[in-house]
Amino acid sequence: MKLTTLLTAPLIAISFASAKSPQTYPISNPHAWMPAGPNDFRGPCPMMNTLANHAFLPHDGRNITKANAVAALGNGLGFDADLAELMWEQAVIANPEPNATFFTLDHLNRHNVLEHDASLSRTDAFFGNNHVFNMSIFRTSTYYWTTPILTGAQLANSKIARQLASKAFNPNYTFTANTENFSLGEVAAPFIVFGDMPTVTVNRTFVEFFFVNERLPEELGWKKKDSISLPQIIETSGAIGKAASLLTDGGSAAPHKLRRGDFHAGLAL
Ligand code: HEM
Ligand SMILES: *[C@@H]1O[C@H](CO)[C@@H](O)[C@H](O)[C@H]1NC(C)=O
Ligand SMILES: *[C@@H]1O[C@H](CO)[C@@H](O)[C@H](O)[C@H]1NC(C)=O
Ligand SMILES: *[C@@H]1O[C@H](CO)[C@@H](O)[C@H](O)[C@H]1NC(C)=O
Ligand SMILES: *[C@@H]1O[C@H](CO)[C@@H](O)[C@H](O)[C@H]1NC(C)=O
Ligand SMILES: *[C@@H]1O[C@H](CO)[C@@H](O)[C@H](O)[C@H]1NC(C)=O
Ligand SMILES: *[C@@H]1O[C@H](CO)[C@@H](O)[C@H](O)[C@H]1NC(C)=O
Repeated sequence: MKLTTLLTAPLIAISFASAKSPQTYPISNPHAWMPAGPNDFRGPCPMMNTLANHAFLPHDGRNITKANAVAALGNGLGFDADLAELMWEQAVIANPEPNATFFTLDHLNRHNVLEHDASLSRTDAFFGNNHVFNMSIFRTSTYYWTTPILTGAQLANSKIARQLASKAFNPNYTFTANTENFSLGEVAAPFIVFGDMPTVTVNRTFVEFFFVNERLPEELGWKKKDSISLPQIIETSGAIGKAASLLTDGGSAAPHKLRRGDFHAGLAL
């Protein structure tokens, strides 16, 4: 992560103008949280929004170049550069311009490019705004988050519940095999960033705080990990894929292809 940290002087000035003791408060955190202003772009990804709110990504939600994504995912979350590059490469198709060198958070809102139906915290495009946090939808997911420490099974249950609700009530429900791969990565993400990957557990308070506020749960005691790499993502997404089975013996009725889960659109390669 040799890339320059994103920081902008105006952001710092505004965040400290609202701090409780402006005279004595040290200017030590260029990544203090600040929500989007009226001209800032935000999208369907709670983490990309969060990284923009903390100015790890450009706060205006624009110009997400490979370099800016590598810096943001590295400095904000501890993702290693290879992983961040791969994720950016798979996401830049969100910009409709051929051979684009950046995307914006608004590009991520394009329905059925990366954004999809049955999100945990957003309603389907068919019903309304497909990218803004939607508390009533989120509550239908958290209904399955039944203990203070969340398990892979609980998040997998909320994923299945959202798909069932969409399949039942959205006449235009769309969810392809590629969407499934992307979705498994999203459901694994809270364990990867905020939780314990080997046991697939995470503190529910961290995850709810993150979704609702689009803010890193630092004030709750969360600390960024040292290094998160692709094999860990594949492993955790795979565990979510298994947890999403409705069978109790881990088997299947018919022969099927071995499936490895992955993070955001087929990272398993
Ligand atoms: C290049 C980096 C990334 C891009 C381009 C990206 C893009 C997206 C997009 C387009 C969605 C919307 C899918 C939907 O319709 O539900 C999404 C959802 C999501 N992303 Fe990301 N993402 C990135 C990195 C991350 C990271 C590092 C995390 C780690 C926490 C994360 C966590 C999530 C979660 C939890 C969702 C599901 C939200 C829901 O179902 O309501 N993303 N992401
Ligand atoms: C976009 O980000 C790159 C770094 O990745 C930077 O060199 C460039 O100046 C930025 N462009 C704009 C318009 O902010
Ligand atoms: C995009 O890149 C491809 C491959 O390098 C090239 O053939 C094509 O002309 C480029 N398109 C534009 C619009 O620059
Ligand atoms: C409806 O479904 C089609 C085909 O899956 C898709 O291209 C389109 O974006 C969907 N529109 C909405 C609003 O869901
Ligand atoms: C939240 O989702 C519900 C259920 O689909 C929908 O009726 C409502 O309009 C959504 N709210 C927003 C702000 O999109
Ligand atoms: C989904 O991921 C699996 C395993 O990584 C891969 O074999 C499969 O081709 C992917 N499916 C799509 C449609 O990308
Ligand atoms: C989860 O985190 C919150 C906030 O830091 C803390 O109060 C709580 O004790 C944690 N829960 C568990 C079960 O460790």
